[in-house]
Amino acid sequence: HSLHEFLQGLPKCEHHVHLEGCLTPELIFQLAERNGVALPDPATNPAYVSIESLTARYDRFTSLDDFLSFYFEGMAVLRNERDFTDLAWSYFQKAHADGVHHAEVFFDPQVHQSRGVPYETIVAGFAEGCRRAEQELGLSTRLILCFVRHLSVSSAKQVYEEFVQHKHFELGVIHGLGWSSTEVGPPKDMFREIYASAAEKGIPLTAHAGEEGDPTYISAALELGAQRIDHGIRLIEDPELMKRVAREGILLTVCPLSNVRLKCVPDVSHVPIRRFLEAGVKFSINSDDPAYFGGYILDNYCAVQEAFELNVMEWRIIAENSVQESWIPNERKAQLL
Ligand code: HPA
Ligand code: ZN
Repeated sequence: HSLHEFLQGLPKCEHHVHLEGCLTPELIFQLAERNGVALPDPATNPAYVSIESLTARYDRFTSLDDFLSFYFEGMAVLRNERDFTDLAWSYFQKAHADGVHHAEVFFDPQVHQSRGVPYETIVAGFAEGCRRAEQELGLSTRLILCFVRHLSVSSAKQVYEEFVQHKHFELGVIHGLGWSSTEVGPPKDMFREIYASAAEKGIPLTAHAGEEGDPTYISAALELGAQRIDHGIRLIEDPELMKRVAREGILLTVCPLSNVRLKCVPDVSHVPIRRFLEAGVKFSINSDDPAYFGGYILDNYCAVQEAFELNVMEWRIIAENSVQESWIPNERKAQLL
């Protein structure tokens, strides 16, 4: 508690936040109205009776897939370019207030495309939110396009083709690629061809792995070319792999409140923060889906502090690794350090 002000003032980088995961129940109801989108019928899904009942339901996720069903239903209210901009802007304002100086944000184009929203609308909307954050808040930002594991490989290939054709990496509109959604079930290497192609172009790659899935999901992601691992908490179950991750300086983007809400751990003290520090595994602390998991980045920092009582030196290591492993030029890193 005593370090709360220190944590607030610590210059933070966020590497693991889904813009669609910043869609609050308030904004879901507002945009449903604005866009004439029907939310699920409260008669069959009582969570959708009100903002309050939906918020209360988020306290009782039973698993990643239980959460994902709400996450994908919620984002169906996003239709127009302005919706995507408003959503990104609402996140960046909150992040700025939490002391975030640099944010790398995920988005899931396949899911919006499956509802008929064009790729250009999604990217233009989110990119405008990033531009505004850079200009008005002085944040640096990075957009990371995420492929989703619950849809077909061919739909992922289609969006990858659009990304390539628009030259969105070369133009600096999208800065990296990731994958997310359902972990256990679909083939671990379903994006092998896409990642091989992207790696050849020098595009930074990350992947959600080792959240619900065992460490073989992490090694598969690394084999496909991921340079970072999103979540990765189950790495502690494979000591050899953990040594390799430490040796190679691979960053884990850890999301403590997400892990608790999705029942990956019983409470924050079971997130392997201390184990990673002791093993020299680099990690950053992030919010994942703050509108769904009960807190933004500072809440995650404070929850870690309450569970582990880290000292100022340990926090400096975490903050410094977060800067060093950001996907930004050295000049920007120097400003953040
Ligand atoms: N895991 C997998 N997919 C996701 C998550 C997550 O925590 N959040 C949003 N999409
Ligand atoms: Zn995530």
